[in-house]
Amino acid sequence: HCRLFASAVDNGDAPSPVEPSDGASVVDVNPPRGTRDFPPEEMRLRTWLFDQFREVSRVMAFEEVDFPVLESEALFIRKAGEEITQQLYNFEDKGGRRVVLRPEITPSLARLVIKQGKSVSLPLKWFTIGQCWRYERMTRGRRREHYQWNMDIFGMPKVRAESELLQAIVLLFERLGITFSDVGIRVSSRKVLQAVLNMYSIPEHLFTEVCVIVDKLGKLTREEIEKELISTGLPAKAVQGIIEVLSLKSLPKLEEVLGSDVEAVADLKKLFSFAEQYGYADWICFDASVVRGLAYYTGIVFEAFDRKGQLRAICGGGRYDKLLSTFGSEDIPACGFGFGDAVIVELLKEKGLLPDLSRQIDDIVFPLDEELEGPASAVASSLRKKGRSADLVEDKRLKWVFKHAERINASRLILVGKSEWERGMVRVKILSTREEFEVKASELQ
Ligand code: HAM
Repeated sequence: HCRLFASAVDNGDAPSPVEPSDGASVVDVNPPRGTRDFPPEEMRLRTWLFDQFREVSRVMAFEEVDFPVLESEALFIRKAGEEITQQLYNFEDKGGRRVVLRPEITPSLARLVIKQGKSVSLPLKWFTIGQCWRYERMTRGRRREHYQWNMDIFGMPKVRAESELLQAIVLLFERLGITFSDVGIRVSSRKVLQAVLNMYSIPEHLFTEVCVIVDKLGKLTREEIEKELISTGLPAKAVQGIIEVLSLKSLPKLEEVLGSDVEAVADLKKLFSFAEQYGYADWICFDASVVRGLAYYTGIVFEAFDRKGQLRAICGGGRYDKLLSTFGSEDIPACGFGFGDAVIVELLKEKGLLPDLSRQIDDIVFPLDEELEGPASAVASSLRKKGRSADLVEDKRLKWVFKHAERINASRLILVGKSEWERGMVRVKILSTREEFEVKASELQ
């Protein structure tokens, strides 16, 4: 039952295990708070989900990459007051280097793009699936470690890139059986905010800070947001202007307020017209209140949400054309998204869309008495070499073996018995039909 506690109960809530008699200290069987074990059932679900991520990435013609979970802290030092930089798992390693367990993967992608320099041909389309760490206050679907599927494109300056990423997200939802009545994707552009700041001649350097503050609109009250904005030095009139524009939910209205020669409007119109062509227009909607909480976004931003409004954002991303220069390199236009493993599983559970992922094994090989253990090894070995999954079982009663076969959904039972073996034969039992026959051991397929 140790495993049960570890997977189902958070640290601190589980009963303590029995005190060992030898005076050794008792180890807490739970993983650190906010982290998960993956016992076999959970692992099967995770592998299945990652397979879906990989399959969508494949059809979108993206290449897989990977990075260390441990990164230099310097990659995550940003001064815009983002939540993510306050939640770092950071420490000094034994060599005195400042390191972090990465809270996200985008800076690592940027680092590798810079490192590869002129040798990469643009545009490059990369995907990765990896664990991220954030010291979060925990809520439903929000933990201290999570896995993220990321798809990113470098070297495509126009909204074609965003429209490709949105298709990938929609393809994934469709594969999982989720429809646009369950989930939507809110889309806006940070250039909307930029245009408003320009209208009030607000200096460029305040842009990022304003974005990070405005992103808290759902969490803080409007008054609190206004106060924070004023404290950056923004005039009250500009603050009002920002708040008003952020409530816009239609593109024609936005065009009315900002004018049609603003980049934000042109980008969004183009993106929505592409969406019609790709066939996912029903999934997306314009919502000016989406700005996203990360400092580096510069253009289109988007977030997928459940339409019932019960869960956190399912995934989020956007354009970040200026991240590379913050690392001292030449900028390359870029955009991408991160898609977590936690919220989507909550949603699938709720909708009854989790697949049946029971264990499945081809064969159980069972020697009927001890002196046949040698031959049984040969039989199991040859099946495995032919690519069948074979579980070799011994020291059990036949009754137990049948139960076991049911438990692990085995298709066949291969019984190695004395009289058959002497003739070079084994007994095969097809478990679904109860059909039974003898086969030459060397011809067992
Ligand atoms: P993010 O919005 O911070 O963006 O995270 C992306 C997704 O990761 C979220 O929508 C959610 O699914 C998942 N996620 C984040 N934090 C947690 C958590 N504590 N527990 C469970 N799931 C979580 C980024 O990280 C950007 N780097 C994404 C990106 C890639 N933008 C451009 N390229």
